[in-house]
Amino acid sequence: MSIMRQSSIMPVGIDDLAIYIPKLYLDYRDFAEARGIDPQKLEYGIGIRKMTIVDTNQDSACMAANACLKLMQRNHLEPNDIGRLYVATESGLDESKAMNSFVVGMLEQIYGEDSFEHAGGIECKFACVSGSYALYDNANWIRAEENNNKAAIVVVSDIAKYDVGSSGEYTQGAGAVAMLIKEVPRLLSFDPKVTSTTIKNEYDFYRPFGKETPLVNGTYSNLLYLIQVRKAFDSYKEKAIRTGLIRINDGESITDHIDLFTVHLPYRKMGEKALAYLLRHEWRTLPRWDSVIKEIGFAEPVPKDPRGTIESILADTEFMKADERFRKSFMQTSFYNEVYEKKMSSSLEASSIIGNLYTASMYMGFRSLLEYEDKKNHNIEGKRIGFGSYGSGSSAMVFSGVIQPAYKEIVKGMNLEEEIGSRTKLSMDQYQGLRENERNLNDSYVRAKDEFVLVRIGGSTADKAGVREYCYCN
Ligand code: HMG
Repeated sequence: MSIMRQSSIMPVGIDDLAIYIPKLYLDYRDFAEARGIDPQKLEYGIGIRKMTIVDTNQDSACMAANACLKLMQRNHLEPNDIGRLYVATESGLDESKAMNSFVVGMLEQIYGEDSFEHAGGIECKFACVSGSYALYDNANWIRAEENNNKAAIVVVSDIAKYDVGSSGEYTQGAGAVAMLIKEVPRLLSFDPKVTSTTIKNEYDFYRPFGKETPLVNGTYSNLLYLIQVRKAFDSYKEKAIRTGLIRINDGESITDHIDLFTVHLPYRKMGEKALAYLLRHEWRTLPRWDSVIKEIGFAEPVPKDPRGTIESILADTEFMKADERFRKSFMQTSFYNEVYEKKMSSSLEASSIIGNLYTASMYMGFRSLLEYEDKKNHNIEGKRIGFGSYGSGSSAMVFSGVIQPAYKEIVKGMNLEEEIGSRTKLSMDQYQGLRENERNLNDSYVRAKDEFVLVRIGGSTADKAGVREYCYCN
């Protein structure tokens, strides 16, 4: 696709982004051996090779502050340039005090006391989707010209942690992405009036108060993710056509008009499956479907009750088996693979070496897309990116944006491995020790340098209970 149409509304979007990834990781082979799993299942079935683990002196707030500081330093920003600082997370540290205040406290160690006092912001929560709501709200704050010429920073920061021995354990990870939201952005301008959401009361994945790890219905969560993102996509499609953003000719699919996709990535394979689900949904009524079916060699199965609930579809074991076979065959077709290679593969690279970042996953995917498209020497100026964001509980948000001409100066020299820095591989015993809180927070595996770390929780007196202290280590 060539340069896309965008409306004449003031362009607002992502000007730049910075990441912070902790330095400890687990290798999938060590993990597979310890848990008695075939390593091929982790590498290909899930799509994980290195899983990020936080050190004893790290939490979601210091990861957020580290990403934020990097973003500010590389853009030579002063606190006065920032009008809002939002943090989206599901790894909250306090039932009342927002994570932004911790982050501001850390940043003020660098920029001076009260240097952010003029700004505003909140901590946002809706599992993995809240960062997308934060971006949307801040983009509209700028569009409404409430921003007094200031930019917003949205930070997404999380620690994905599951019960030891559970099937979620190999989808762990940690990290933060900070994004600068501005008028006339250099990187990506959001398409206006097309952002679409769904919301539904669900218990696919949740973490009741006081519990460190979530309660998860894995199979249910996978299907719910696919259905909710597809429904948000249907609504996006209706808006994109109605507003004239995208014009679809006979025989075309809206997916033909989206140049690159980035979706929520609890694990790499989920991105591949989400693309397959979306393409099946969009193509099934088009003339090209006959050729797809011919290549597959058998018809697409239908559930006994096509209008049934997720539970009834999952209980229809005959259909589920047949559908899995069909999905796997579809993912082998030249039709799927052409779209996958061209439009999605670049966004999945980071997930394999970092793991799930909850709120930050899709934005790490976007960062991955920029870097790996550049490595392939693809010029993506003017290309439309489709975002499929999902949060358990549940809500989905679909939106899009167009890559801006100045993106090249930001993407130039992007190198994920270099940016993460040298990493320390944990043995399974060391990992187990971290999980059982055997080490205290001042006994970290990695010596922190040029970053914020947690130094103390709670003072010696009752009025300091729960107070978290951070410092910047040079
Ligand atoms: P599982 O038990 O590992 O699933 O659970 P599986 O046995 O079906 O295996 C997964 C894949 O590995 C399958 O491929 C197998 O065929 C394959 P697929 O059918 O998917 O194409 N496999 C192998 N491949 C190669 N060699 C082998 C081999 N053996 C099997 N030897 C599950 C997977 C994701 C359910 C689990 O890890 C889990 O519960 N994770 C946590 C929940 C989750 O991530 N859900 C995703 C959707 S919900 C979401 O994304 C929201 C979330 O991020 C939270 C939030 O919003 O805050 C989680």
